[in-house]
Amino acid sequence: MTSNIAETVRIDLADRSYDIVIGENLLGQAVTYQNLPKASAALIVSNTTVAPLYEAALKQALAGHYKTIHTLHLPDGEAHKDWVTLNQIFDALLGHACDRKTVLFALGGGVVGDMTGFAAASFMRGVPFVQVPTTLLAQVDSSVGGKTAINHPMGKNMIGAFYQPQRVVCDLSVLKTLPPREVSAGLAEIIKYGPIADMPFFEWIDGHIDDLRACEPKAMAHAVRKSCEIKAYVVGQDEREAGLRAILNFGHTFGHAIEAGLGYGEWLHGEAVGCGMVMAAHLSEAMGLIDAAFVQRLTNLLDRAGLPTKGPVLNANDNAGQYLALMLHDKKSVAGDIQFVLIEGPGKARVSKAPEAMVRAVIDRCCA
Ligand code: NAD
Ligand code: GLY
Repeated sequence: MTSNIAETVRIDLADRSYDIVIGENLLGQAVTYQNLPKASAALIVSNTTVAPLYEAALKQALAGHYKTIHTLHLPDGEAHKDWVTLNQIFDALLGHACDRKTVLFALGGGVVGDMTGFAAASFMRGVPFVQVPTTLLAQVDSSVGGKTAINHPMGKNMIGAFYQPQRVVCDLSVLKTLPPREVSAGLAEIIKYGPIADMPFFEWIDGHIDDLRACEPKAMAHAVRKSCEIKAYVVGQDEREAGLRAILNFGHTFGHAIEAGLGYGEWLHGEAVGCGMVMAAHLSEAMGLIDAAFVQRLTNLLDRAGLPTKGPVLNANDNAGQYLALMLHDKKSVAGDIQFVLIEGPGKARVSKAPEAMVRAVIDRCCA
């Protein structure tokens, strides 16, 4: 692809390979969307918050590529990542008589991206789609790697598919309109890459956390590129999470329990993951894998990123029991055993079960 794009990270997956393009002011440029699969129509899927900000620019950039551009605005929020909202995408595709070449554009955060990706995976057994992530979290994690899903009341992201996009467009300029709480949520997934894979990156984040919270362009460009590189490497090794990819779920076993237990949308996904990382780090320490100093360091960094580090009480009578019941539904659970991503040592993670009494003790210690 030739263009004025600042940087490109390649996801290497044989015939499902694609580029993540990263830079300023990309979203509204026609060149950003060159060489995508040919089609007469495109559908931009966004939500009621993001569409007024960026849909017109995207539509204009796509105008030279597609004869017809349809748009759809989903309701905003994690609480809408469900069958009813997903069905709105199928209704729009069928209502506009879209064919199997129609290209879907996911314009929004991880909620829009995950739902649009799932719709693309299943409409007419698969149509091409492009991720245009507009949150930090979506740029550094959810838009990359082909996981698509909706939630079920009993579990997070329980219904979905692996389905890779044709391209990911990370326009850093759109982060300017992101509320600070959402920036912090995205920082959780950036910080995640340190303990599981790359301690020099962790050190760098530690030294630039204030710049990142302020969305300072140079620091943000580095953090997004580096995160995408780490994720690209992991996904390139293990696209469908047969092994290595599970390390990307550090903090997610506890985090998904927080999200489902409180009701989707009460805590942001990144907040739940950040707090889940604290809990998983304490569990790693209890298992004798890391020392208390590293747990404290990680906790301090998450705190400085503006994230909660104490878990919520989900049940006043048996809080640990409630967490355990919710975590049983985690996709990593095997034959009734909850699997945790544990830090084996700074920069290295593994998936393991843990004694229930130890998990209970960690939950008791980490929840306020
Ligand atoms: P989100 O999609 O709910 O977006 C957060 C909020 O920011 C929303 O209100 C949204 O409308 C708003 N917003 C988006 N872009 C904006 C902008 N530029 N300016 C102003 N407001 C903007 O949340 P998220 O954190 O992006 O994504 C969380 C979701 O991603 C969860 O459902 C999670 O399960 C999923 N996820 C998926 C993967 C994956 O691999 N597929 C990985 C991590 C997370
Ligand atoms: N966010 C975890 C993964 O993509 O595997």
